[in-house]
Amino acid sequence: MDVLGNIDEVQQHVKRVRMEGRSVGFVPTMGYLHEGHLKLIETARRENDVVILSIFVNPLQFGAGEDLDTYPRDEERDRKLAEEYGVDVLFFPTTEMMYPEPMSIRMSVTKRTDVLCGKSRPGHFDGVAAVLTKLFNIVMPDRAYFGMKDAQQVAVVDALINDFNFDIKLVPVATVREEDGLAKSSRNVHLSARERDEAPAIQESLQAGRQMVMAGEKNPVRIIQSVTKFLESRTHGRIDYIELLSYPELTSVDVIDRPVILAAAVFYEKARLIDNVVFDTD
Ligand code: PAJ
Repeated sequence: MDVLGNIDEVQQHVKRVRMEGRSVGFVPTMGYLHEGHLKLIETARRENDVVILSIFVNPLQFGAGEDLDTYPRDEERDRKLAEEYGVDVLFFPTTEMMYPEPMSIRMSVTKRTDVLCGKSRPGHFDGVAAVLTKLFNIVMPDRAYFGMKDAQQVAVVDALINDFNFDIKLVPVATVREEDGLAKSSRNVHLSARERDEAPAIQESLQAGRQMVMAGEKNPVRIIQSVTKFLESRTHGRIDYIELLSYPELTSVDVIDRPVILAAAVFYEKARLIDNVVFDTD
């Protein structure tokens, strides 16, 4: 595995690979790798000749008061895992390398962001779109892998790729979970023992909502009321949102008659957790 910190080196490497007619799969992450990330790497490994993993905690996507400084990091362990899972190139840039100066051009994501995490994290997806634009231009992949745990991010990347004509196939990968259903997340390490016990209720509540739809309930308001009640009864965490929207457009629906996302975010003492289910009515 090549570990590269330099943008030019990565671009040269990719140009060589592409000239040889070999395909490139890209997995962008912020590190502290867990099984969710590893599933993306495994999927990319199966579908491409060359796999490039980036690890970069992108300051642009963190708001004031968010967890940029406490975001968990373990470079050595990440490096070993990347090697073990067959990554060919690990791109580990510094902040100075990615942003030598404040950017002259700011991206502003205008659709799919006034809801869910976009609403409670203003500017977050602008920062994601900016860093991914840079990373896509550096890595020039054929395919890019993103987890459905961050379903809104997948919807925004879908728009980014379409709007700016990136010649990249977006590959969404199903959420990897703990045995009790909690979505794997780098932030789970910040949960207290009691919070960890309660957190699987997030996915349980969303599944209960999905079951209601499957049983014939088509009114989003009633679903959300019921999911809220369920979740409030099972966790002390503060609910940030529970929303039901069309997917991937992320617009409100009066009647559930198309693919939708039912998503929740919950604040715990030191972590904010998100989860979702995406489903169709048939
Ligand atoms: P990060 O939170 O490190 O996540 C990297 C990728 O791993 C994302 O596509 C995310 O959806 C996926 N992922 C995380 N937990 C997962 C799980 N339990 N199951 C499946 N996939 C999971 O998302 C980011 O980084 C950043 O916003 C980034 C795209 C790198 C831009 O900075």
